[in-house]
Amino acid sequence: MCGIVGYIGNQEAAPILIKGLKSLEYRGYDSAGVSIYNDKINSVKTKGRLSNLEKKLDTVSLNGCIGIGHTRWATHGEPSDVNSHPHMNSTSTISLVHNGIIENYMVLKEELEANGHNFLSETDTEVAVQLVDYYYKQSNNLLDAVYKAIERIEGSYAFGVLCNDEPDKLIAARKDSPLIIGIGEGENFIASDIPAILEHTRDIYLLEDKEVAVVTTEDITIMDMNKNIINKEVFNVTWDICAAQKEGYDHYMLKEIYEQPKVIKDTLTPRLPLDVNNITLDNITLTKEVLRNINKIYIVACGTASYTGLVGKFLIEKIARIPVVADVASEFRYKEPILDEKTLMIVVSQSGETADTLAALRLAKKAGAHVISIVNVVGSTISREADDVLYTLAGPEIAVASTKAYSAQLCAMYLLSIKIGMELEKISQEEFIELRKELYLLPEKVEKVLEQSDAIKKLANKYINSKNVFYIGRGLDFAVSMEGALKLKEIAYLHAEPYAAGELKHGPIALIEDNSLLVGLTAYEQLYEKTVSNIKEVKARGANVLAIALEGNTEIDKIANDVIYVPRTHWMFTSILENIPQQLFAYYISVGLGHDVDKPRNLAKSVTVE
Ligand code: F6R
Repeated sequence: MCGIVGYIGNQEAAPILIKGLKSLEYRGYDSAGVSIYNDKINSVKTKGRLSNLEKKLDTVSLNGCIGIGHTRWATHGEPSDVNSHPHMNSTSTISLVHNGIIENYMVLKEELEANGHNFLSETDTEVAVQLVDYYYKQSNNLLDAVYKAIERIEGSYAFGVLCNDEPDKLIAARKDSPLIIGIGEGENFIASDIPAILEHTRDIYLLEDKEVAVVTTEDITIMDMNKNIINKEVFNVTWDICAAQKEGYDHYMLKEIYEQPKVIKDTLTPRLPLDVNNITLDNITLTKEVLRNINKIYIVACGTASYTGLVGKFLIEKIARIPVVADVASEFRYKEPILDEKTLMIVVSQSGETADTLAALRLAKKAGAHVISIVNVVGSTISREADDVLYTLAGPEIAVASTKAYSAQLCAMYLLSIKIGMELEKISQEEFIELRKELYLLPEKVEKVLEQSDAIKKLANKYINSKNVFYIGRGLDFAVSMEGALKLKEIAYLHAEPYAAGELKHGPIALIEDNSLLVGLTAYEQLYEKTVSNIKEVKARGANVLAIALEGNTEIDKIANDVIYVPRTHWMFTSILENIPQQLFAYYISVGLGHDVDKPRNLAKSVTVE
């Protein structure tokens, strides 16, 4: 959801801002712009991808060593030049970039209009810059004006502000939208996310909610809402810049799909020492005593991460016999969920910044529940606010469609489920040793699935013109089918629906016709025969069938048009193997249709608005 970069130092700001924005383009890519100070603030902004902005900048030279930039995912007002950020006051002396949503912008706008302010754009953000301008005229002090403005603003924001009359500083402020400050030598940075500044520094401050920073060439001062100075710890980034680059792959998504054996190994093995017959879950205390005090578990997340929740629900209920509700975060908090000190909540998030997931976490904590987060981005808001965090060690995920982060989330969920099962004595030592052995084998089994990439590419080309695609499965396979259908929708723009295999004949089967494609997931062997019967029902009505099956279950060959086999593993872990062909299938269809795989239309990574 929108990317922000700011620079102050002695180098030309434009190339630094553009490079930073490029690494944030996954956050939004419908328009972009920069403001740079050189005697006065000059701005260039344009609709479309960052490449459009670059072209425009080739024709206008924008020099200066202090500036702010933005790449947008539209919320208020269509993507257009005028709605692009930065937004300015009427005299172009104050420039502001924003990520988030100003909920009371209509009220503020009316008030400002009554005071003679004219608005050019349809955005909520323009209200923020006009409000800063309004207060600046009263105090001639940018920091005071920003403070006064944010006191009036309801909603979420990460702001970067630049002012003609105080060109020695950038002001940054955040509430419910991520913002970091990069610490350089003789230069400093602001950004929505680490990759934007990693080339320049590994030392950063993570701004918390309702913190404001004054950033100059030599200094960074961080304050609370009462202007008390906060002494923050420096956060050191340990991962490498090349982790956020394509490294020869055509797309980030393909690179990230191929990284999965490593990601799975990295997420699993440190928690599965071979010299102890137990799981070590970082600092999470999930003992028998803690678990006996719990009478309910909620797993809450959005999108792909919510499908990890469905797998978790299935595993924990089956193994530990504790009731688990898996819900999407956007609905959860409006259901008046029953939360108390006996509730355990598990939230799952790649970015650790998803607004709805964060809101669910806060609701649970307020009610006294214990919250464990499964998060990929180290230091993100969700990881900081949860009582415990189990990091997925997937490294930066740049493609908008999640692949490796989902596999890492599944691994984390396997670990949590087994740990709960062991503590509640539902899994014996012998069974644990067997499970650990299987988990250690998962990376090489994933490699074996990846080796089928060419064959899956051929299948993708064969079925590229399918009109409607149905993903079906039972039990764990049903959870995995949801992820398969989502991948196809989001990157290939094909109509795809997941269904519990037994539900099809209660209605959706009416949609089946020639040229429909059914992707039948059959790896959950306990219900294999039943799923196969459901597949037959659909085949008989004219659909093509692409099945995903465990090696050895060859009778499916007689029913399906095509079968992708995945290696056998313990039933608990089939989801991870079965999903890899779904990722590759969606990827190759998207490539075949000529879509922008890494930046699908209308989407953005890290959804920091409700
Ligand atoms: C789909 C996808 C999204 C995210 C969802 C939650 O490929 O990436 O559905 O899974 O927006 O995001 P996080 O995990 O960052 O909370």
